[in-house]
Amino acid sequence: MTDDLFYKTMRGNFSQSPHDHEDALRVLSEKNYSFVPEIYHFDNEQYCCRKIEEAVSLKQYLEETADFDIANKVIQELTIFFLEVSKNTKDELHLIPDDIHDENLIVDKKKNIYLIDLDMFGWWPKNLVYQKLGTSISKVSHSINYSMLYYERRQLGNRVEELSKQLNEQNKAMFEAGVRHGFWNIDSISEIKEKYEVYKPSAM
Ligand SMILES: Nc1ncnc2c1ncn2[C@@H]1O[C@H](COP(=O)(O)OP(=O)(O)O)[C@@H](O)[C@H]1O
Ligand SMILES: [Mg+2]
Repeated sequence: MTDDLFYKTMRGNFSQSPHDHEDALRVLSEKNYSFVPEIYHFDNEQYCCRKIEEAVSLKQYLEETADFDIANKVIQELTIFFLEVSKNTKDELHLIPDDIHDENLIVDKKKNIYLIDLDMFGWWPKNLVYQKLGTSISKVSHSINYSMLYYERRQLGNRVEELSKQLNEQNKAMFEAGVRHGFWNIDSISEIKEKYEVYKPSAM
């Protein structure tokens, strides 16, 4: 059972009350959003939530797969989650997640996506909801773009290596054929050296 739990000692964030995590985590725990792992215990210092098994960061996942559907899904689900969560208010401040990036989004084997690093949720003035939404979507979109470019570059690198190997093989075969044409009674380059080296004119 303990294998299924993830414990985190929280740090401050950049919201209006950096070290006041409890109210934010209470909302996440009560609303049980599917975009964050279930929270089991929390206070102002620590939280314990479901450990997502066999999950990798969005960055790693997209660098390995360039999966367009997951890229699409992450932007869609993140936008909906962000807008939903920002409806929660406290003293006219809105709850929003900060520090959203490709290492704080993880993908499991079933291709579910989760936002982690829950100490980055805090309370912000209304106008900043849209500024932070824009920044987050932009940051994640850029990272998707870079991961996909990284994937394509690796694919191209592999293809170049493969073609270069093929060329090498062809070159070898052509060279061997040429050798056999000129030296009909031998089978390999080493035989040329062995048998015909003696006929080479000596260096002046
Ligand atoms: N609920 C979770 N399930 C599985 N792994 C997690 C979970 N939360 C965090 N992790 C893993 O632990 C790492 C650090 O967690 P995070 O909360 O992002 O801390 P930090 O503040 O150091 O960035 C993450 O990159 C991820 O690999
Ligand atoms: Mg993190």
